[in-house]
Amino acid sequence: MIIAPSVLNANFLNLEADIKATEKGGANWVHLDIMDGSFVPNISFGPGIAQQIRKCTKLPLDCHLMIERPELHIEAFAQAGVDYITVHAEATRHLDRLLNKIKELGCKAGVCINPATPLESITDVLDLADMVLVMSVNPGFGGQSLIPYCLDKVSRLRSMKANLQIEIDGGINLETLPLAKKAGANIFVIGSAIFSAENIEEETARFRVKERNKKS
Ligand code: DX5
Ligand code: ZN
Repeated sequence: MIIAPSVLNANFLNLEADIKATEKGGANWVHLDIMDGSFVPNISFGPGIAQQIRKCTKLPLDCHLMIERPELHIEAFAQAGVDYITVHAEATRHLDRLLNKIKELGCKAGVCINPATPLESITDVLDLADMVLVMSVNPGFGGQSLIPYCLDKVSRLRSMKANLQIEIDGGINLETLPLAKKAGANIFVIGSAIFSAENIEEETARFRVKERNKKS
């Protein structure tokens, strides 16, 4: 199980410390939400900040591009040093070409779909992608509630490919994570549930404690 805190809701004036706190709490990746104000109604940050983040952690950077025409920007994010580049199937016309290009740039290629986008739009590229990101909220903002039918989408995806890396993003907290896990997700993006806490390290660790308790 991979825990990927999304820094969208972090304190950007204290970003390095916030990221280090998640690391100490047992986070595996850092999730970067890139928003352009067009594909989604919000604007976040670009490759310059991603490059700064690269310098302050060794954890893999999981870059989620919520932008129109991601093909115009993947090179800049690859140069910034991110590890995963995930693009929305809805945002590009040539998904096959784009996933190949991401891999040519030396990054892992992820493909993402919004809640209302059918799985069929990505089933032909499952073998090309290193990861599928299933949105469990309409992207754009942190702090929204998980849309339950997205869990069914995760289950159907898991039954299509047993060894697929399936990431889920939106509304994941201590209550919903077990449901997403049961549905078949293995990578969990967690934004506000971690960064709105008083103690980010302890809050990250709570997700790990829950996992340990389940095993024993
Ligand atoms: C949604 C973003 C998410 C979001 C997660 O547009 O892609 O990564 O920040 O935040 P929470 O966990 O608060 O839903
Ligand atoms: Zn995201």
